[in-house]
Amino acid sequence: MKVSTLTVKCMVFAICVSPFMVMLWNAYSNSLGPNPVETMTHFSGLWTLRFLLITLTLTPIKMIYPKSGIIKYRRMLGLFTFFYATLHFLIFLAFEHGFSVRYILEDILTSPIVDVGLLAYILLIPLALTSTNEMMRKLGKAWKKMHISVYVIGMLSILHFALSEKADITNPLFYASILLILLTIRGVVRNRTQKGPKKNNDA
Ligand code: HEM
Repeated sequence: MKVSTLTVKCMVFAICVSPFMVMLWNAYSNSLGPNPVETMTHFSGLWTLRFLLITLTLTPIKMIYPKSGIIKYRRMLGLFTFFYATLHFLIFLAFEHGFSVRYILEDILTSPIVDVGLLAYILLIPLALTSTNEMMRKLGKAWKKMHISVYVIGMLSILHFALSEKADITNPLFYASILLILLTIRGVVRNRTQKGPKKNNDA
């Protein structure tokens, strides 16, 4: 049985939206624990990082299996990364600081954790804004170059995570090793394809 791209896209969408639904359900049923804001910050931060890494996995898969068709889902996954990052940021603005400009600025001026997270988020914005087919066409090669910054965003996100963990950085190291593996695969495959006929130039 052949499953249509639309059906798969709907399934991917449902999977991507489910962490958000879980968070909403936990908030509705008062199951966020003794510190709901902290729980939501950690939950949304972790899912942002997971979606970022899942999105980054698609390009190496496409490089290794060009006919897999997996690249069709990259935009959706990338936009979900942005969605969870925005949620994470909004939780910070609204629930941690009640939208108080003074407290937000104070945090930005004193917390390296916040600064690194903010930088990662700012770098994500142009990627989300240029994710349409039209922008891809308009920007051409510049689009591909621009989207390489996603690896920098990955590094900043892991640094942000490590700084927030303070004592035990086992989890950030786990995510860092995934990023390293993805970068290595990308480098190796790119080197091979550049030696052969030049046709693969994905970000
Ligand atoms: C690409 C963007 C971002 C990613 C991937 C990200 C990811 C994360 C992760 C993984 C954590 C730790 C979760 C845990 O401990 O379980 C975290 C914590 C946190 N993030 Fe982000 N974040 C991003 C952007 C931001 C932004 C823009 C802000 C605010 C300006 C922010 C503020 C925080 C704060 C306050 C914490 C908690 C720190 C603590 O517990 O001491 N993050 N983030």
